[in-house]
Amino acid sequence: MSTPIHYGKQQIDQDDVQAVVDTLNSAFLTQGPQVAQFERSLANYVGCKHAIACSNGTAALHLACLALAVEQGDIVWTSAISFVASANCALYCGASISFIDIDTNTGNISLTALANKLQHAEKTNSLPKAIVVVHLAGNSCDMQAIHKLCHPLGIKIIEDACHALGASYQGAKVGCGKYSDCCVFSFHPVKSITSAEGGMITTNDSSLAKRLKQLASHGITKESQDLQQPGQPQWYYEQQSLGYNYRLSDLQAALGLSQLAKLDTFIERRQQIFNNYQEAFNTHKLSLLKQNEEGESAHHLVVILIPNNQRDAVYQQLADKKIHCQLHYMPIYRQPFHRISDAEIETFSGAEQYFSSALSLPVYPDLSHQQQQRVIESLLEIVNE
Ligand SMILES: Cc1ncc(COP(=O)(O)O)c(C=O)c1O
Repeated sequence: MSTPIHYGKQQIDQDDVQAVVDTLNSAFLTQGPQVAQFERSLANYVGCKHAIACSNGTAALHLACLALAVEQGDIVWTSAISFVASANCALYCGASISFIDIDTNTGNISLTALANKLQHAEKTNSLPKAIVVVHLAGNSCDMQAIHKLCHPLGIKIIEDACHALGASYQGAKVGCGKYSDCCVFSFHPVKSITSAEGGMITTNDSSLAKRLKQLASHGITKESQDLQQPGQPQWYYEQQSLGYNYRLSDLQAALGLSQLAKLDTFIERRQQIFNNYQEAFNTHKLSLLKQNEEGESAHHLVVILIPNNQRDAVYQQLADKKIHCQLHYMPIYRQPFHRISDAEIETFSGAEQYFSSALSLPVYPDLSHQQQQRVIESLLEIVNE
């Protein structure tokens, strides 16, 4: 009987286990040196000045919105095709959310849709405070073009790079912050690297970094230069804003650090798997999402587009063979909580087309050659029937 294959999973080795055990045996389980080291190492990896660790990617998005002063009365825009957290972060701050249609070739936001929406919003005085752009599947959006459209209008840019740690764009790593205010990562087990749960925000803006750090820990600071009442004893700390306990523990940071050392080999393996799929499906009229020509994807997901409304049938037949794919994602506006009217849905032709055809195939570093062959042969057998 064949073993099940899932669309994604972590790869943990003995070094990772040892790193966590060592931290368990150390003086600090939280607020210790592993967190600070993880932040420094990730900032160095992506080439950004600051990195702030937090408990998960959702918390990172919430912190990003808070630190950029998103609040009640504001509007935030995000991609119609993403995980719900890309939208919820705005609602946590009391703002409202509005969706941008996607480019069906890449699954990322459509630049034309963005430009049209901006033009309309300028006319109706309803420009967003911030935009959360999502690098779907690990493939960078065209950040230079997005920056060119949004920056002159004073719109803050948050990159949701939860899929894209290890990806690059124009020769620099995603997260370097060249075209955004800040960039958010997730270390959920299916992502490029894992810390079980975990998140990170990178930014080149020192005062934004300070606010993010404070907000992730109750709004409290102990830094003598930041105190409103200086000259206090060592035990003194101040709560200066309403923050949260969104901290990452040292156990999680130790795992994240150990995983970060393997990130490039993980991405290389994902790239090989992507290439194998591409080669296998090339001649069968099955297309994968198009890659950004100015970048290299982290290949968090390999999304295949199944034509003729056959996606659900293909999904089920693969599941019957114990190959468990997934849809990333149903448009957020179709979720009961975020539901928009049927007439509005009709305006999202890109997201609707993607929704009817997308399927994420298994991709993770230790997916074996035989397992990938099983996926390829099963899929071809189903679609060629
Ligand atoms: C695009 C995107 N944004 C945000 C998140 C939230 O990350 P986390 O699960 O770490 O909270 C995810 C995770 O699934 C995601 O895929």
